[in-house]
Amino acid sequence: MARIAIIGAGAIGGVVASLLQETGRHELVLCVRRQLSQLVVKYDGAERRIEAVVQTHPEEAKAVDWVMIATKAYDAETAARWLDPLCANGAPVAVLQNGVEHRERFAPYIAKEMIVPVIVDCPAERTCLEDGRDRILQRGPMSLRVPESMLGREFVQLFAGSRADALAVDDWTTVAWKKLCHNAVGALPALLLKPAGVLRNEAIGQVALDMLHECVAVGRAEGANLPDSFAEEVLTACRRGNPDSINSLHADRIAGRPMETAARNGAIVRKGRVHGIATPTNAMALALLDELARS
Ligand SMILES: NC(=O)c1ccc[n+]([C@@H]2O[C@H](COP(=O)([O-])OP(=O)(O)OC[C@H]3O[C@@H](n4cnc5c(N)ncnc54)[C@H](OP(=O)(O)O)[C@@H]3O)[C@@H](O)[C@H]2O)c1
Repeated sequence: MARIAIIGAGAIGGVVASLLQETGRHELVLCVRRQLSQLVVKYDGAERRIEAVVQTHPEEAKAVDWVMIATKAYDAETAARWLDPLCANGAPVAVLQNGVEHRERFAPYIAKEMIVPVIVDCPAERTCLEDGRDRILQRGPMSLRVPESMLGREFVQLFAGSRADALAVDDWTTVAWKKLCHNAVGALPALLLKPAGVLRNEAIGQVALDMLHECVAVGRAEGANLPDSFAEEVLTACRRGNPDSINSLHADRIAGRPMETAARNGAIVRKGRVHGIATPTNAMALALLDELARS
């Protein structure tokens, strides 16, 4: 049994809470920034009501055994305000966010060796607020990948007995860069305000391929094992997917929220600079989306 705090009870935080509850072993604390009367997660036709202590102010927080951060990457600074009280007894911190810089993002707030980076795959969204209730719609299974290590294995154990596909892997860097490749091309539908089907357009697809080749080159320089064919594979997968789907950059832009551009295309550009690899298409997407977000 562990006392586990989840910072950010949005789509991913909600699904993680539901899976941890499924184990029947843990005590959950939801750290949120606005009052939450009830959190309900819908999956496979069933609704699960999350039983948890809800806290809205870091000053109320008490030490726990594990912390899971499930905010968007751009909310890292405010999410980190919870860490001092929650980690008072040395709790490890799992960062469930997109991108490849989980440790760098939280290194200013907590010792790097206590951070467990997690690559999450799970289609989930907040659907609506009904009678003051937050509802999360989980559209498919959740996969969680952490680096093979003592803390990584402990993290996986927390989910034993749930339907989560949680695994500690030797080559986490490759997993993370593969996911980043998929995320990188999401900038194009977000720029165009068109669903994913726009990537089927020949010229747009060529730009996506250029972005992917840049991401693959930088990922390889970072140690990811990405085959020559990977850029084409990602584009093919995007084109085979639901043409009406809206990625989270796009959804955030429509909703007038900040976008995770810095954690996605920004990471490719920053790491590319470190390795002397040019990333002009990702740099352009980043500049345009950031300017659109400002206007
Ligand atoms: N959704 C997916 O399908 C999916 C799949 C794979 C990976 N991811 C990644 O997972 C991460 C989380 O995404 P998400 O879709 O779950 O985002 P989300 O639905 O927007 O949820 C984020 C939650 O964090 C809360 N939050 C922000 N700052 C906070 C703070 N200082 N203290 C407490 N709570 C705070 C937000 O509060 P409010 O309710 O007040 O806004 C929101 O409830 C992102 O990096 C995303 O890219 C998402």
